[in-house]
This record gives sequence, C-alpha cells and structure tokens, in this order.
Amino acid sequence: MRSPTPRATSRSRCKKESVRRREALRVVANESVGPYSLIRVERGSLDPGSPGQFFMLEAPGRLLPRPMSLCQAPPGELSFLLEPIGPGTRALAAVEPREKIHVFGPLGNGYRLDVERPLLVGGGIGVAPFPYLSAVLGSPPAILGFRSDWHAEAASLVPNAEVVVEPTLVTERLRPDHDVLACGPEPMLEAVRELAPNAQLAWEAPMACGYGACYGCSVEIDGVLKRLCVAGPVLEAA
Ligand SMILES: Cc1cc2nc3c(=O)[nH]c(=O)nc-3n(C[C@H](O)[C@H](O)[C@H](O)COP(=O)(O)OP(=O)(O)OC[C@H]3O[C@@H](n4cnc5c(N)ncnc54)[C@H](O)[C@@H]3O)c2cc1C
Ligand code: FES
Repeated sequence: MRSPTPRATSRSRCKKESVRRREALRVVANESVGPYSLIRVERGSLDPGSPGQFFMLEAPGRLLPRPMSLCQAPPGELSFLLEPIGPGTRALAAVEPREKIHVFGPLGNGYRLDVERPLLVGGGIGVAPFPYLSAVLGSPPAILGFRSDWHAEAASLVPNAEVVVEPTLVTERLRPDHDVLACGPEPMLEAVRELAPNAQLAWEAPMACGYGACYGCSVEIDGVLKRLCVAGPVLEAA
C-alpha cells in the first residue's frame, strides 16, 4: 500500500465536515486479533469522522505519530487495528490499559458512501477501516484476503465476509458489477482497479503530520504531485 503511483483521481471525494482535534485518550484495552493488535481508546471529545478517514496516533517513545484508519466507533470509544511491523507500530502494540496516548483527527477523505451495491475488498491489515465502514453501510458483502489462517482471524471483525487465504487472491472472487471499496497492499489495489475501474481505493504513504503541512506524503495524482493526506487517502480509480 505504499508510494502510490495512482492512475487515480481525487475528484468527487466526499469529505465529511468533522472537527479535528488532538487529545490524550486513555487506553481501554489492547486485544490480540491474530497477529494484529486492536487498540481501544476512550473517545474523549473526538469526532469519529467518516469511514476511511484516519487519525495520527502517538507512538510512545517515538518522535512522530503514525497514521491509523479508524477501525470501530462504538459509543464512547474509538478503536484501531494495527500490524506491528516497525518501531512505531510495535510501541503502539505494547500500550497498556489506563495509559494515555495522544490521538489527532479525523483526517483526510474517507470513502464516498452514496453507492448502490457496495462490496468491500481488503487484504491483510487493509481490513482495518472495514468494521466501521461495514457498520455505516449496513453490513454489505466483503471479500477479504490474508496470507495465513492466523492473519485471517481479523475477518471476524467484518460481518458478511468471504475469506480467502493465499494462494487464492481476492481478485479471483471480485464481482465487478458491484461498487468496490478497497483497502490493502499496493499490488492488490493495482489489480482491483484493473477489474473494477470505478473502485474507491485507500492508498498509503509515509505521513509525518497528517494535515498537509510537511509534504512528506506527496504522490502523483492525475499527473500532479499532491499530498495524499489531503487529497486522499481514499481515491477513485481512474
Ligand atoms: C492513511 C493511512 C492509514 C493507515 N492505517 C493503518 C492501520 O489502520 N493499521 C496499520 O497497521 N497500519 C496503517 N497504516 C500504516 C502505518 O501507518 C505504518 O505501517 C506505520 O506508520 C509504520 O510505522 P513503524 O514505525 O511501525 O514502521 P516503520 O519503521 O516506519 O516502517 C516499517 C516498514 O514499513 C514501511 N512503511 C512505513 N510506513 C508505511 C506506510 N504508510 N505505508 C507502507 N509502508 C510503510 C517502511 O518503509 C518499512 O519498510 C496506515 C497508513 C496510512 C498512510
Ligand atoms: S503527512 Fe504531512 S503533508 Fe501529508
């Protein structure tokens, strides 16, 4: 999901007007879901925003926060599903209940929700925004791909999901007559947009600020360099 070179467009994005805030939030629980960590924090006065938007989470002991999609928004809580792959995500995966971490958001543009036949297509940690997206869209069908049965435990967070494990790929089960909303590794997104030209795709790039100030997340969109944190992370395939 990194360094997108999207033949994609930021047109028609649906930006929910939510107020972004930075707040120190108490950790309610840190639960294992297969190899992933589900970090649940008190919501405080933060707005959950729209599915596909993201928050910058303080990674204890690290200088920069890390971008995370909102995974769930039950009353009074926000939760984030993360894969510990480096120092920041490992620090976050080690947070303990009652600790406080700074959370800033919601940020960026989420998925356009005015779709008639939604189909969620996700790979690996790309399932992270889908529990919230599924709740908002009324549990539409989903196709989720993982590299092992252990990783596939995360599918339990997404209702109405068909699960495939490698070597089977989500694109083998794709139903292009649906409105595809996808999140996953870049090769998966590239393959999805070949089959579903109108898909909405959530891209990733390393982000330092999350709100347009540092230009660290610049990627080429419509042939022009744009900041993914402002133009995306969800973009229309094109
Ligand atoms: C909008 C957005 C939403 C995200 N949502 C989630 C989420 O819900 N759950 C989750 O686990 N992760 C998510 N990520 C990715 C997550 O932010 C990175 O994995 C994290 O910042 C890596 O930090 P680190 O210090 O652990 O690892 P680092 O040491 O920074 O990186 C470890 C490895 O991952 C690569 N990497 C770092 N950042 C990214 C990135 N953004 N994209 C692709 N590769 C990267 C590095 O090149 C390196 O190879 C999201 C990223 C973005 C931009
Ligand atoms: S992360 Fe700073 S401009 Fe996008």
